[in-house]
Amino acid sequence: MIEAFDAVDLIKTKRDHGILTTEQIDWLVDAYTRGVIADEQMSAMTMAILLNGMSRDEIRDLTMAMIATGERLDFSGLSKRTTDKHSTGGVGDKITLPLAPLVASFGVAVPQLSGRGLGHTGGTLDKLESIPGWRAQLSNDEFMAQLDAVGAVICAAGSGLAPADGKLYALRDITGTVESIPLIASSIMSKKIAEGTAALVLDVKFGSGAFMRDPAKARELAETMVRLGQDAGVATRALLTNMNVPLGLAIGNANEVRESVEVLAGGGPADVVELTLALAREMLDLAGMPDADVEGHLAGGQAMDTWRAMISAQGGDPDAALPSPKETQVVSADRDGILVTQEALPFGIAAWRLGAGRARKEDPVHHAAGIDLHVKPGDAVTKGDPLFTLATDDPARFERAIEALEGAYRIGDEVSPVEDGGPLIADRIG
Ligand code: URA
Repeated sequence: MIEAFDAVDLIKTKRDHGILTTEQIDWLVDAYTRGVIADEQMSAMTMAILLNGMSRDEIRDLTMAMIATGERLDFSGLSKRTTDKHSTGGVGDKITLPLAPLVASFGVAVPQLSGRGLGHTGGTLDKLESIPGWRAQLSNDEFMAQLDAVGAVICAAGSGLAPADGKLYALRDITGTVESIPLIASSIMSKKIAEGTAALVLDVKFGSGAFMRDPAKARELAETMVRLGQDAGVATRALLTNMNVPLGLAIGNANEVRESVEVLAGGGPADVVELTLALAREMLDLAGMPDADVEGHLAGGQAMDTWRAMISAQGGDPDAALPSPKETQVVSADRDGILVTQEALPFGIAAWRLGAGRARKEDPVHHAAGIDLHVKPGDAVTKGDPLFTLATDDPARFERAIEALEGAYRIGDEVSPVEDGGPLIADRIG
């Protein structure tokens, strides 16, 4: 086969701050997927993109080219409107768990194709797999039938959506080219657009435990993704949210499920409730239900009923006991005062080291491992009060987890300023 372009010419164009045409980008993605472009050439290209950026048209073309390498789901046969949510990930971010059934309890379809955790941010599927019997893998028919009957589905994304992204992401991961806004935005949005949702709400996080620490960069990422979605005909909106402090009190898997169930029962930590309600309002607004009484469906049990139906439909027992850890260790306050710092990233790393996360794709997670926080920044503590409890199945892991937490929390004298980086929801885009 005679190739339409030469990879080296395209790399030089990006190296020299040039703009690639639609045809060139289509070829680049297709030829890389076919194995015509070598990994070392694509690494040079992704590094050129990371260093020199891409125009709005190029980002759109890259996204569409990645979508074209795989299948597109079609929800037009469903009797319900579809609305989806994507979070860029953070520490203690279990919001999908209460959110999907809450939104679905209004008769909207919420197709949540999710992933497993890698590194310090947890994966939604890992959390749900702590429920005995629950299975992440659904056939297309099962997926559609559950969307119709229950409304909410959280399951594993098959490899059929934007397969070029899978190959490219693995390459970026080992070549220092993950942190590029054009590459992140096209990677996330290619999968979401291919998934076929009519509406999408993005939770783009900034701060210590976020993928994009810098709020200005997180905003740029959010704006880029909102534009990409809108250009592709998906009603897209983003909330810019604070990830300086872990979300809620549970970091791990089984304990995050437990906390999500508390929210569905009308309780739970204030920050988890606030973000769940805010995202639900946005999703329902985009689905044409701006006045939906979201608090009412948490207090009234409708969201809980949908959760139970969603878990049962995937083989899980919503009443089964969740795994509990073999060993725990409590860390207590060494003085009276006020908790002024609780930095998300070290807590995420510590939970990961306790076994809640995985270092390699094929590693298992320990469902009962993690951290339960007993106080949040701003809370008064007395010497000896428990600050947090570490949980693991393997006590040899405590030492390195505690090492990660060195300097991550501080008890001071002043209530103000609380070092939590400001309000939970910083802005709304789109
Ligand atoms: N998540 C993705 O799916 N892709 C990225 O590039 C970054 C985060």
